[in-house]
Amino acid sequence: MKELEERIQKDGRILGNDVLKVDSFLNHQVDPVLMQKMGQEFYNYFHNKPITKILTVESSGIAPAVMTGLEFKKPVIFARKHKSITMNNDTYIADVYSFTKKTTNKISIAKHFLNEEDHVLIIDDFLANGQAVSGLTSIIKQANATLEGIGIVIEKTFQKGRQLIDQQNIPILSLARIKAFKNGQVVFAEE
Ligand code: G4P
Ligand code: NA
Ligand code: NA
Repeated sequence: MKELEERIQKDGRILGNDVLKVDSFLNHQVDPVLMQKMGQEFYNYFHNKPITKILTVESSGIAPAVMTGLEFKKPVIFARKHKSITMNNDTYIADVYSFTKKTTNKISIAKHFLNEEDHVLIIDDFLANGQAVSGLTSIIKQANATLEGIGIVIEKTFQKGRQLIDQQNIPILSLARIKAFKNGQVVFAEE
């Protein structure tokens, strides 16, 4: 997505060797106009699939997921990272390992919102090591629902998440694919 790549070039900051800071439009302040266009891109790519639910993880996945849900006119579920006081034991739970923090956290969603009749599109802001996507995939399996595809805003092709998804033959669309950070510049992968 050309407009997203241009925005990354303009406003993205590279931290260390492998992290892109994009908190002016995605991870802290959100640009709703850009977000809406992302939702349209995901819709154009996946609209032939019988999607019934959009699934993401709080917090940064919510904005692009909601815009996608708006296009599909389908509900958006975000997995919670912290236990809600209104959540009882009827929850699907999965582990998400963080390579950066070297800790394992749990994500959960209420069983009530996902079942075997659902056809799910996963949306997330970043694909790095693929741990968030793995956790969501596990929850979809627990619900006996069908995973139809994965939409990612920014993929870093040099980390292992993409390989993990390709091994399972799941349709995926990443709106921007970063191949490397070189001399303080973002290098995008060719289509
Ligand atoms: P993974 O899900 O692909 O395995 O990601 P990983 O464990 O490597 O990263 C953990 C967190 O860091 C995730 O957010 C993920 O979205 C984010 N992340 C990974 N690479 C980048 C990057 O280059 N830039 C930015 N800005 N974030 C990155 P999270 O902890 O779930 O936080 P949030 O959703 O509440 O923002
Ligand atoms: Na995320
Ligand atoms: Na994030």
